[in-house]
Amino acid sequence: MSNEHKVAIVTGASQGLGEAIARAFLSRGYRVVGTSRSIKPSDNPNYLTIAGDIGDPATGKQVVAQALARFGRVDTLINNAGIFVASEFTAYTEPQYRDMLSTNLNGFFYTTQHAVEAMLKQGSGHIVQITTTLVDQANSKVPSVLASLTKGGLAAATRSLAIEYASRNIRVNAVSPGIIKTPMHAPETHGALAALHPMKRMGEVTDVTQAVLYLEDAGFVTGEILHVDGGQVAGA
Ligand SMILES: NC(=O)c1ccc[n+]([C@@H]2O[C@H](COP(=O)([O-])OP(=O)(O)OC[C@H]3O[C@@H](n4cnc5c(N)ncnc54)[C@H](OP(=O)(O)O)[C@@H]3O)[C@@H](O)[C@H]2O)c1
Repeated sequence: MSNEHKVAIVTGASQGLGEAIARAFLSRGYRVVGTSRSIKPSDNPNYLTIAGDIGDPATGKQVVAQALARFGRVDTLINNAGIFVASEFTAYTEPQYRDMLSTNLNGFFYTTQHAVEAMLKQGSGHIVQITTTLVDQANSKVPSVLASLTKGGLAAATRSLAIEYASRNIRVNAVSPGIIKTPMHAPETHGALAALHPMKRMGEVTDVTQAVLYLEDAGFVTGEILHVDGGQVAGA
């Protein structure tokens, strides 16, 4: 065990953006703790994986405790785990509402509480939420109020926590993606989804990992919602 390397926790790390963000931190020499429900064990000594539902208060507690036990510190938390269900407002079901609040909001809340406790003891830290540009730019072609409700909460909480902890050397930022090519979107939908961006293409996973790494390095940036959306937030 060593405290020489920085340590990042990435939620929703089994696939898509979370998997790529975890790999990006590993390739920078970080020790990484990745978590999701179905994540597989890792044989990389610098990468600890922990399976669990992020909406369960026990998962965030265990993830932070294991990061401290194995790697000695928590420098960065990427709150990436999330689910997206597009639906007309009145067609949303009670289970969909419950699941989106649990994963998108409870997962952020419990994990972040434990991470901030560790960061306060260390005297530094950085937290990044993955939100969505639909929060700022609703789209008549993609009715999805539960994405706005939950990710909008994360955007507001990003600014609130940034201010609460600014004087204590913990930065809090968000990346707000447009539509990114991950397993969330079936390939046959890519053409239609590309057309929803002023740049007329979907985002690549690397567009998001670059934004996360920029924020990680940007020591004077906090409370920022960094849009990586091919121009969506600027207008249609
Ligand atoms: N792709 C996009 O176009 C896009 C756009 C805007 C925002 N985002 C946001 O970016 C984040 C990642 O999206 P993605 O495209 O990479 O999605 P994805 O491919 O569907 O991956 C989602 C990840 O979250 C994990 N997860 C889901 N429910 C969970 C739960 N209850 N507990 C723990 N982990 C859970 C999944 O792992 P398990 O199934 O193993 O639990 C998986 O690792 C999400 O927050 C999403 O809302 C994505």
